[in-house]
Amino acid sequence: MLSSFQFHHIGIATDSIAKTSSYYLKMGYVMSDIMYDPVQDVNISFLKKEGMPVIELLEPHSSISPVSKTLEKLGVTPYHVCYSVPDIDVALFELRREKFLPLFNPVQAVALSNKKICFLFNKDFGLIELVEE
Ligand code: NI
Repeated sequence: MLSSFQFHHIGIATDSIAKTSSYYLKMGYVMSDIMYDPVQDVNISFLKKEGMPVIELLEPHSSISPVSKTLEKLGVTPYHVCYSVPDIDVALFELRREKFLPLFNPVQAVALSNKKICFLFNKDFGLIELVEE
């Protein structure tokens, strides 16, 4: 059920993790190491602060990254919302029924301890990421 989805993080596209993170660091967030994600061809870093939603910064590694196109159009911007789900295949089935289209089959994400992730798009929602518990 969609009501079982738990908020996980918000992803923000940036052309510079160093520049964007500097503001979060001033706000007291703690930054993870920067990891390379081959699925999206991006460098990723997570920013955490007690009681605050987790922020993920995504910086394209090359111009072929899908995040590059978003940056060209919009500049630094929120890019996706991620929810954790107990079973990614069940969640995919339910979201397809709600007219979300998967961008690719679930894959293991290096930046999320090899947990299974998937991205889906719906024109009235935007981009959603799922991560399996
Ligand atoms: Ni994400």
